[in-house]
Amino acid sequence: MLSGGNASIGARIFFEKPETQCSRCHLIKNTGGTVGPAPDGVGSRLSREQLLESVVSPNAQIATGFENVVLTLANGTSLSGTVKRETVEVIDLVSGEDGEIRVKVSDVKSRDRGLSAMPDGLANLLTPFELRDLLEYLASLK
Ligand code: HEC
Repeated sequence: MLSGGNASIGARIFFEKPETQCSRCHLIKNTGGTVGPAPDGVGSRLSREQLLESVVSPNAQIATGFENVVLTLANGTSLSGTVKRETVEVIDLVSGEDGEIRVKVSDVKSRDRGLSAMPDGLANLLTPFELRDLLEYLASLK
């Protein structure tokens, strides 16, 4: 599982597999979304075990700067997303569904730590071979 995959098949899964849509949230070489960290260089930063864990159980370790929060506003609305920028006045949240939302700090009633914005269970949508190829691709991003 941890080695012996095919990185170019892995890249195709990353960019093209409709069920997992990795590139909807991850920007690699300027293609993709920015909800998650750009994995360029992830193969140098993380071991293969850590890479596998990132895909199989995203909540085990949350990448720095990508902590998700749940904000409850004074009017009862609750919003969740990743804090992209924060000042004393506003919080810029990026949510997978709604894109970027600016929230006034004065409207926030409570703030809780949320789960990773990366969905749990993506690995269940991949065969063990696909997971191995994907891992090989991620490990090749030096
Ligand atoms: C809905 C958005 C979303 C999708 C889809 C998604 N990810 Fe993520 N991913 C994230 C976010 C947000 C993080 C950062 C939080 C965390 O570490 O859990 C992350 C973290 C990671 C990390 C750890 C990166 C680091 O720098 O530590 C890896 C590796 C990763 N994702 C790979 C994948 C792969 C492979 C897929 C497709 C099977 C995928 N992601 C699909 C949002 C997503």
